[in-house]
Amino acid sequence: MKKEETFDMPGEEFRSAGIQMINWIADYLENIDSLPVVSKNSPGDLKNQIPQSPPSSAEDFEKIFKDIDNLIIPALTHWNHPGFMAYFNSTSSAPGILAELLCAALNSNALTWKTSPASTELEISMLNWLKEMTGIPENFFGVVYDTASTSTLHAIAAAREAASGSVRTEGLFNSRRMIVYASEQAHFSVEKAIITLGLGLNSFKKIKTDSQFKMIPRLLLEEIKKDKESGNLPVCVVATIGTTSTTSIDPLKEIAEICSAENVWLHIDAAQAGISAILPERKFIFEGIENADSIVMNPHKWMFVPVDISTFFIKDHTRLKNAFSVVKEYLTAEDNPEAVNFMDYGFQLGRRFRSLKLWFVIRYFGVDGLRRIIRQHLRLAENFAAWIDAHPMLDRIAEVHFSTVCFRFKPGNLTQQKINDLNDELLKLINSSGKIFLSSTILNGNFIIRLSMSGIRSTEAILEKAKEIISESVETINKIVRS
Ligand SMILES: Cc1ncc(COP(=O)(O)O)c(C=O)c1O
Repeated sequence: MKKEETFDMPGEEFRSAGIQMINWIADYLENIDSLPVVSKNSPGDLKNQIPQSPPSSAEDFEKIFKDIDNLIIPALTHWNHPGFMAYFNSTSSAPGILAELLCAALNSNALTWKTSPASTELEISMLNWLKEMTGIPENFFGVVYDTASTSTLHAIAAAREAASGSVRTEGLFNSRRMIVYASEQAHFSVEKAIITLGLGLNSFKKIKTDSQFKMIPRLLLEEIKKDKESGNLPVCVVATIGTTSTTSIDPLKEIAEICSAENVWLHIDAAQAGISAILPERKFIFEGIENADSIVMNPHKWMFVPVDISTFFIKDHTRLKNAFSVVKEYLTAEDNPEAVNFMDYGFQLGRRFRSLKLWFVIRYFGVDGLRRIIRQHLRLAENFAAWIDAHPMLDRIAEVHFSTVCFRFKPGNLTQQKINDLNDELLKLINSSGKIFLSSTILNGNFIIRLSMSGIRSTEAILEKAKEIISESVETINKIVRS
């Protein structure tokens, strides 16, 4: 294409800016540990530096790009930082970053097979690879969405359509109250899906968990039976493998048996932990999965694929299609079973070429390479748990199933509120180091600190640094208690 035929940035300028940017990214990733992991900005700091109105005339790319260093970097909490051990870390690997760049260049929008055969077919192939890698049965149909929240929303929508058969046309008018069940430790994306789908939060039953934060199947069965007796319609059970607070594992086999016997859809939320099933020795986490109806796992959480990519698998894909497919004359699709039209399997029409990121990452590291990284995380978590267990002033709070460890400071005979306040102070002190970033949760009314190691830059060295910072911070808080 000749220069004068396009309004876009000239090719030469693109090349030079692109090289400059790739160099910048390489430097950023190499030196990221010299930056404070959490932004030191206060709310509004960045907004106040951005002009209120857009520029009416063009600006130099050089000037725009400079503002990444000047404005954006100070306002960032660096998810790619090795010291980011909060929440469930999502880190991006170099091959994933390059694939993301290509994604934008190709700008493919896979509405139907015809609008992007490459994106459609690579998505199918990548989901087949993931099934083989993790042991999800072959007969499950896969779709890529943005996040686990979206995946779970689609699961509950498909379950609702399957249970009622009429919501698509009649909405919720004249229908029985439709009930969704999950443990009290389930992620709030389940509640958001219930709100979005118009089921109402009073239709959500939180099932109690045992001392290790796992759903108690007997209580689930009791609730389902009670609902049936009172004329409610049980629609979906969400079991979690790797709950957000402690990574507890709901007893899948028993829950699946209840769902089969009671004819209730079983959705598995394995958003973070599911990826670890690529390890032969961790396949047990999916025992009973063949009896589930759907499952979500996020490669952006623990497979080093940049945000966002969530993979959703469903046993009977017609349920999803029945819930969402709408045919319009202006978007006719191929009448060929090989030509999957992903627009039929969700509420979105437009969809990004996310599978390209999976393709690059899986091929670059190989399954063995990915296994090696995840094994390292599991080993580091075990190492940290043993360190907590041996520490005289720290208590480990839950079993360590994956790469997250929950602990708290135990200062002796003080009220729960006082102990909680001290742990809150401890966490603030740890995070004020700027070197590591941990998060917290509340379990049985207790303030708990969480350390999660799932980043591609998580190493032995950063864990040792974390121990040092935690030890010093505990000493400081302990002195305050004793004074
Ligand atoms: C168990 C679990 N499910 C779902 C989610 C939601 O993930 P997403 O941000 O992809 O919607 C999370 C987030 O951490 C999670 O821990």
